[in-house]
Amino acid sequence: MRNPLLKVDAIHTFYGDSHILFGVSLDVYPGEVVVLVGRHGVGKTTTLLSIMGVQPPLQGGILFNREEIAGLPSWEIACRGIGLVPENRRVFPALTVQENLEVALKSRSDSRRLAMAYADFPELASLCHQRAGNLSGGEQQMLTIARTLMGNPQLLLMDEPTEGLAPLLVRRMGEVIERLASRRQTLLITGQNIAWALELASRVYILDTGIVQWSGEMQRLREHPEILERYLAV
Ligand SMILES: Nc1ncnc2c1ncn2[C@@H]1O[C@H](COP(=O)(O)OP(=O)(O)OP(=O)(O)O)[C@@H](O)[C@H]1O
Ligand SMILES: [Mg+2]
Repeated sequence: MRNPLLKVDAIHTFYGDSHILFGVSLDVYPGEVVVLVGRHGVGKTTTLLSIMGVQPPLQGGILFNREEIAGLPSWEIACRGIGLVPENRRVFPALTVQENLEVALKSRSDSRRLAMAYADFPELASLCHQRAGNLSGGEQQMLTIARTLMGNPQLLLMDEPTEGLAPLLVRRMGEVIERLASRRQTLLITGQNIAWALELASRVYILDTGIVQWSGEMQRLREHPEILERYLAV
């Protein structure tokens, strides 16, 4: 079988003395859309921060392109090709939309990537000279994704991209993810409600209090909705 692009291998992550992840393992293969789902506070964000090197695991390993990345500084992990769209939108409010995108370019002359970003996010093209701080929440979310994509990451991590968005924007986010998936952008996406991802994801991991309780093909979850209910019911 092919090698996974990302292999998280039995990681244990702590905040101080608080033990949060208890041996989480997951694989993401090239071109796949994988969803990590779970209730509030089960460790979804912590898993992404562990992969990104922001909250490194104290035990276990993380292989990216078959190289160990656990313990590397997060800028090095970003350079190797992992991008994170964090839970809370992070734009530079005083800069324009275009300036926000340009700061993420590896070379300022790379105007092709800028054109690609505007093709993917036409709503940003018409706002390119607006200050990012004046955009709506949904527009800031799009800008954060567009900016992360400027670095051309091999693997894009998205932390609850639909959280707090109005239904219309949830649908728009589904389109954005579908477009990324159609050009085989590898994605690892977290969420509490994954109804919108049902059509897009190939595999799902269900996390509960720092442990992967179930993993399998999206198709199986479609056939057995009781699995999701069991772990996601409050
Ligand atoms: N900086 C921190 N210091 C101490 N504990 C933390 C910190 N960040 C998160 N935690 C705790 O770690 C656990 C997992 O949090 P995490 O943010 O990974 O969950 P989550 O699944 O992303 O939740 P949500 O759906 O609310 O975003 C929670 O119990 C949380 O209180
Ligand atoms: Mg979270």
